[in-house]
Amino acid sequence: MSLDSLDPIVSLAKRRGFIFQSSEIYGGLSSCYDYGPLGVELKNNVKRAWWRSMVQERDDIVGLDSSILMHPTTWKASGHLDGFSDPLVDCKKCKKRWRADHLLQNESIKPKFRPEHSSEVKCPDCGGELTDVRRFNLMFKTFMGPVEDEAGEIYLRPETCQGIYLNFLNVIQSMRKKLPFGVAQIGKAFRNEITPGNFTFRTREFEQMEQQYFIHPKEAKKVFKVWKEERRRWYLDLGIKKSNLRFREHEKDELAHYAKAALDIEFSYPGLGFKELAGVHNRGDWDLSQHEKFSGQNLKYKDQETGEEYTPYIVETSDGADRATLAFLADAYEEVETRSGEKDGKHEKEVVLRLHKDLAPIKAAFLPLSKKEPLRKLTAEVQAKVRRDYMTQYDETGSIGKRYRRQDEIGTPYCVTVDFDSLEDKMVTVRDRDTMEQARVAIEELKIYLDEKL
Ligand code: GAP
Repeated sequence: MSLDSLDPIVSLAKRRGFIFQSSEIYGGLSSCYDYGPLGVELKNNVKRAWWRSMVQERDDIVGLDSSILMHPTTWKASGHLDGFSDPLVDCKKCKKRWRADHLLQNESIKPKFRPEHSSEVKCPDCGGELTDVRRFNLMFKTFMGPVEDEAGEIYLRPETCQGIYLNFLNVIQSMRKKLPFGVAQIGKAFRNEITPGNFTFRTREFEQMEQQYFIHPKEAKKVFKVWKEERRRWYLDLGIKKSNLRFREHEKDELAHYAKAALDIEFSYPGLGFKELAGVHNRGDWDLSQHEKFSGQNLKYKDQETGEEYTPYIVETSDGADRATLAFLADAYEEVETRSGEKDGKHEKEVVLRLHKDLAPIKAAFLPLSKKEPLRKLTAEVQAKVRRDYMTQYDETGSIGKRYRRQDEIGTPYCVTVDFDSLEDKMVTVRDRDTMEQARVAIEELKIYLDEKL
């Protein structure tokens, strides 16, 4: 069963502590979200899985954590001050503001903006006539130091990758890196989006997981193809259904100012259809050439074997941690007929979040069959044996069926039940979220059992 709207996900996210509206007690701050106790675990697991595959498991990529605030010339050089803007139109009647390129997409006109198309489109809310198109820069501006003048103007980074380019020489020199090699980083980015919305899909503050692969220019086409497949494989390996993913190549006149070629990996978000989840970009030598020009530093690479000196090309992979988290949530969400064995629960819908085990916020829940002291005590002792290695949860309220149901809803792969027999035979029952099979496991072997399963 596939969902036709994000509403059930938004509702589950709030109800079970994954994602909350930011500043809710003040009426909320539009398009900003807070990750709750389970959301932060899920998103951290997404970021950890990305870091493992990008940095830990590879010899050719190293990590970085650069600052959000950067020298303002960065954004002149990168082209963001002049070119990082969205086409904006206002409705003359209801005054609502829209992104012109999105309106044109809705009208099935090519997903690229053409000013001459704007007259063909009316306000989707009231049908009113739209204004001419204006460009709107998406960077958040603030001031550094005590005086709010032009000299103190500074920007919140709109993409994390610029910190990588500015550290190109530092990484080469400190890590003795030879081309080809990559630098990966995870961090916050900020964009003053004109039309944010659709929950965490488009927000003004978000996290990116970006990797820049520095290569000889003649390798660019080949490397682009390799990364395109690698990134898709990462999502599939973490359980995303093949049918929910597709590629979309950007057409020439749709390319960002830095890109020679670009491709989106799209996910079919409930109610939104296929939308960008991640990107793979051939940025050519744009970034290093521009930073060389504006900084006066030589950012060329000299091949020690051939003596050739050149400006490396960059193939970038750019994934949004928030969009990925939302995609994993939506893909894993399943409503099933009641499975908890409750008589009064017949024909009710239950939610099972079939998250990949690496991503599940809680790996095992510990459930005493009764609140009686000897069971509570033993359950806490059993939990203590694994909690150093895995995120666990203790739950003693409600029937065992209800507790299984609560854990299914948050995607916990294993429930460990301690019953009265456990006091005698020193064994516990382990229930599998997906198969619902139950295995009797010796307490002494529980850690090894979970290690194998997880
Ligand atoms: N460095 C290249 C770059 O930033 P992008 O296509 O503008 O490319 C990359 O952004 C990824 O960042 C997107 O695929 C998406 O996952 C995420 N992203 C971009 N804007 C976002 C927003 N407003 N809210 C949430 N995620 C966003």
